[in-house]
Amino acid sequence: MEAPREAVFEALGRVIDPELGRPVTELDMVRDVRIDGPDVAVTIALTVVGCPLRSSFEEQVAREVGELPGVRSVSLSFDVMSPEEKAALTQKLRGGVAERSNGISVDASTRVVAVASGKGGVGKSSLTVNLAAALSRSGQRVGILDADIYGHSVPHLLGVTQRPIVVDEMIVPPVLDGLKLMSIGFFLDENAPVMWRGPMLHRALEQFLSDVHWGTLDTLFVDMPPGTGDVSISLGQLLPRAEALIVTTPQPLAQEVAVRAALMAQKTNLRVIGVVENMTSEVFGSGGGDQLAARLGVSLLGRVPLDARLRECGDAGTPLVWTEPDTPAARAIFEVADAVVAAKQTFKPLPLVS
Ligand SMILES: Nc1ncnc2c1ncn2[C@@H]1O[C@H](COP(=O)(O)OP(=O)(O)OP(=O)(O)O)[C@@H](O)[C@H]1O
Ligand SMILES: [Mg+2]
Repeated sequence: MEAPREAVFEALGRVIDPELGRPVTELDMVRDVRIDGPDVAVTIALTVVGCPLRSSFEEQVAREVGELPGVRSVSLSFDVMSPEEKAALTQKLRGGVAERSNGISVDASTRVVAVASGKGGVGKSSLTVNLAAALSRSGQRVGILDADIYGHSVPHLLGVTQRPIVVDEMIVPPVLDGLKLMSIGFFLDENAPVMWRGPMLHRALEQFLSDVHWGTLDTLFVDMPPGTGDVSISLGQLLPRAEALIVTTPQPLAQEVAVRAALMAQKTNLRVIGVVENMTSEVFGSGGGDQLAARLGVSLLGRVPLDARLRECGDAGTPLVWTEPDTPAARAIFEVADAVVAAKQTFKPLPLVS
């Protein structure tokens, strides 16, 4: 008995590149299929040598092809794409994106939500990761851009050690449980801080943002650097039509600096959709978020209580909303996530006046 060739190709169409999110057949990654009676040998061309996704392909090919009637054995070997093939792949992947005027290359339908604050350490990164994880769980296609060139903590918070793959000039974000992640920190070496100042900064950010291949996303969260420095301003300009969430701690004194972040966001044309008060507790009190929201004329999207488990989950690289969804802090974050979704629905863009 001979394995049916057409069925084998059809089965390969169900083998998905985990990072690019499309079938290998569509990505022209199937280099060779040899059928010898009931034995099938497949060769897949990877974008890079030593691609960390080998085991995923092995498992998928064994499952999809191995289960076909008439197939006795499946073997899979790998090859690497030539520079021309990579260029063609890049072309193909970029093809579907209706690019914005400048800066970040995401589809015009993708919501970009920047998480910002006036000062450091208020919980931006923790909230970014957990909000993204919450929306991803609810079925949205979500990405996180860690734009904090000084801290870049997001990979650690998600336990992602895998580095992005660079295909031609396109950077492909690693994926964790459907969540895509890109950190500027992946590309920084010791000499980088020099580059991230002055006139080089804007160019470098622009280049980086346009090279990342996000695919189709519903929402992209951007973990902003703390404060209102050069990086924040450049980023604001490179995220056209983005929205901003301002994170603040509960103390009334923290509001002065938080207001500055909101003003900066407005100046760079980010639309402030609301305030999140984080670390609400007996120690720090509460109410700062309300004050800030009132001052900015936006809503308070939620109060996230101080909870050591949020920090512990961060240290362990697992979002709290995934591991302990019933804790008060996780529930508060789910509510903020719902409020973020609702903010889109209530927002009616003003008619354009040129
Ligand atoms: N609600 C909370 N309860 C307990 N710990 C929290 C909470 N939110 C944040 N943390 C902890 O506070 C610390 C700072 O949080 P995080 O790194 O998210 O802040 P950040 O605003 O991103 O800081 P930076 O400005 O340095 O980037 C972390 O150790 C984090 O685990
Ligand atoms: Mg941070």
